[in-house]
Amino acid sequence: MSALDIKNLSYIYNQGTDLEKIAVNNVNLSINDGEIIGIIGHTGSGKSTFAQMLSGTVKPTAGKIFLYGKDIWKDYKNRKEVYFKVGLVFQYPEKQLFAQTVYEDIAFGPKNQGFSEGETEEKVFEALDFVNIDKKLLNRSPFELSGGEKRRVAIAGIFAMNPGVLILDEPTSGLDPISREKIINNILSYHSKKRGAVIFISHFMEETARISDRVAIMDRGKIKMVDTPENVFYDYKSLKSINLDAPQITKIVSNIHSKGYNINKKIVTVEKGTQEILRLLRE
Ligand SMILES: Nc1ncnc2c1ncn2[C@@H]1O[C@H](COP(=O)(O)OP(=O)(O)OP(=O)(O)O)[C@@H](O)[C@H]1O
Ligand SMILES: [Mg+2]
Repeated sequence: MSALDIKNLSYIYNQGTDLEKIAVNNVNLSINDGEIIGIIGHTGSGKSTFAQMLSGTVKPTAGKIFLYGKDIWKDYKNRKEVYFKVGLVFQYPEKQLFAQTVYEDIAFGPKNQGFSEGETEEKVFEALDFVNIDKKLLNRSPFELSGGEKRRVAIAGIFAMNPGVLILDEPTSGLDPISREKIINNILSYHSKKRGAVIFISHFMEETARISDRVAIMDRGKIKMVDTPENVFYDYKSLKSINLDAPQITKIVSNIHSKGYNINKKIVTVEKGTQEILRLLRE
């Protein structure tokens, strides 16, 4: 069964005014349980608005979202289920953090889910381990942390609720390469434990290609293409027309291919690219 079925979904800001803006335009998409789907798209293409609708934070202007077959806006019971099953890490962690201390912030979700103090504490510590946050930070205000620490606390707050569908809106933006790598590994280890659906929004083509089973391209509110990372990125010249790029390695193998060498163009990771280039050298 699909984790999420998205049918004719649209969102219009400031509808009926001069400032009307169609942010998401009649999107259809099914997201399978157990898959990691990457969403890429230029600035303003509607990714965050889309993510907020999927998490039930924003009510669609039109269309429907089915979570494990249930229409999430049909009644209050279904809405409550979304809160338990779908976790959104916002693009700007400041939008999400609110409590006096890091502990309270991460504990908020499990407490609201009805877990006891003891159980909540267990979940907070487990989530902390997932995101490699030092326990010393627990009593600090989340607003006094660095950008990377804030982001990790925000992610921990969502992990603590143990959602089946995890949505991350640019979780690695503004971070150094090591912190980015750590966050990617945190997401992968959460996914390998939980096996739910992960929706990963990013401007970094390398990491999107590496971790996604499928990649969806958003352009001006529409989903232009959904396919394997290899099929999405190999034709990188046409991605340029919508302000997107491909992983460097894809461009390298493509350049080698265009010079007449027999190399597989559909490569998105450095590991596979290296193998393919070595094979070519040996031949
Ligand atoms: N609160 C708002 N009021 C009015 N228009 C908005 C609002 N939020 C977003 N928009 C507009 O809706 C469109 C989609 O915005 P959205 O934030 O969903 O894009 P995005 O793909 O997440 O962009 P980015 O890559 O910059 O995060 C943009 O044109 C944006 O200007
Ligand atoms: Mg955004």
